[in-house]
Amino acid sequence: MQVRFRLEAELRFSAPFTKESEDACRVLIDEANRVLFVKGVPKGVEPGEVGHITGSGFLGDVLTLTIESGAYTRAHDALFRFRKQVAPTLGKYRLGIREIVVRDYSITIREQFPDNFRVPRLPFIRNATLSDGVLSFDLTVTASDLENRIPDRLVRLVEEKIEAAGYGGKGEHWELIYESGAKPRHFEGDPTAEMIQRGWIRHALSRGQWIHGPQSTQLFRAFEQIVIDEIIRPMGFSEMIFPKLVPWEVWMKSGHAKGVYPEIYYVCTPKTRDAAYWEDIGDYFKVTGEVWVDEIRNRIDGPIGGLCYAQCPSFWPFLQGVTLANDCLPIHIFDRSGTSHRYESGGIHGIERVDEFHRIEILWLGTAEQTVETADRLHDAYTYVFEDLLELEWRCAKVTPWFMAQEGMIGADTSCGCGGRIGTTDYEALLPYSSSWLEFQNVSINGDKYPKGFNVKIQSGVDCWSGCSGIGLERWTAAFLSQKGLDIEKWPDKVAKLVGEPKNLFKFL
Ligand code: SER
Ligand code: ZN
Repeated sequence: MQVRFRLEAELRFSAPFTKESEDACRVLIDEANRVLFVKGVPKGVEPGEVGHITGSGFLGDVLTLTIESGAYTRAHDALFRFRKQVAPTLGKYRLGIREIVVRDYSITIREQFPDNFRVPRLPFIRNATLSDGVLSFDLTVTASDLENRIPDRLVRLVEEKIEAAGYGGKGEHWELIYESGAKPRHFEGDPTAEMIQRGWIRHALSRGQWIHGPQSTQLFRAFEQIVIDEIIRPMGFSEMIFPKLVPWEVWMKSGHAKGVYPEIYYVCTPKTRDAAYWEDIGDYFKVTGEVWVDEIRNRIDGPIGGLCYAQCPSFWPFLQGVTLANDCLPIHIFDRSGTSHRYESGGIHGIERVDEFHRIEILWLGTAEQTVETADRLHDAYTYVFEDLLELEWRCAKVTPWFMAQEGMIGADTSCGCGGRIGTTDYEALLPYSSSWLEFQNVSINGDKYPKGFNVKIQSGVDCWSGCSGIGLERWTAAFLSQKGLDIEKWPDKVAKLVGEPKNLFKFL
């Protein structure tokens, strides 16, 4: 990829230039091109790649500069270096910089653009064209936007989009790590259909939402008990309660703000708590029997964020800005205090793909070694549970880390630049009725992503790492029932014992 930056800016001074000060300034421009802009640039870089003042003009108290660059001492960096350098010299002539006005800023990117690459709509961009393998942007930016490195962020983002377009059809990373042998199978059907048939669950009134009857709930609780007995208690995880309404601030720090928008359940607040303001909305329903949604839309603020999506991000404000004592690490905690919500695409059929689901989220943090060790112990504990207690046909695979997938970076190379152990392992179970594999939980080593995002440090000064593991109860149920069926006599002992006699409270006529 070849990048070019070009800017035109006016440096407005506190007084008009004189012949003398103009000459002094020309000397500075010459010097900047020869010395200042070349500082720190590696040897062998083409001169054309390095920031250069290619035009200057003096008119009254204004110095107009044109600066061009490639990837080194980018035009805006050159501008600010120059500003710093001229201050002391021109100060002698009682000239100080009052203001910088950016008249023009353009970026051109020369690259082999993949066929499916589309020119993105991005902030600050006034005009964008792509032709003959050259993408050109004209920006509307202020000097403070340039100080905030907006051009660099735009280029980085375009780079990411080119990469993502290139990965296109290749899909997510997936690499098998372990596959269990065959296990006793007692069922060939679709467990959801069978659960409905037996009255264990019924459709709720929202999209992808179920009401679980006592039988299904008993099974959820039995699975929860197994997780507590075999994992949470022996490994010493303590229960916490994480919030389930997630404000933007959390997703800005967790990275979800980069790409989770198509799947969020958005949350809004009333413009006022005043009952009189809402009276006609209630009256409308009383008269028409309809909820006046179009008008409600005018009377709410936000969205202020969304409903719980990934579960663990909401924990991190608990540690925001703190330094953790060495002797309290590793921290082992979990949350099972509420539902998670995802606006799922199209075919939401069974309980395995739903908009509202129940998950135990296990979370741990400490040094890198501690974090990896906990993940390994968890994997062993899960292996015991799936092999010996649930007797499942299952496998696990290293996949695109969940946080990258959720940030929209599908297909990104998982081995890039992050420690070898960082990433997600998905646990998948065979669904005999559809001959497909269902991801029913994961274990992830998230590196320093969360501690960095929320500014969490460790006393010893080493990097803080964290990991998490989401146990989806709907998914466990779908996996288990689709292999073992709904007849409790055929279930493995431990599960049958914990579930007890399925309760049949309702009789439908
Ligand atoms: N937080 C992780 C996820 O969203 C694990 O539950 O997948
Ligand atoms: Zn998590």
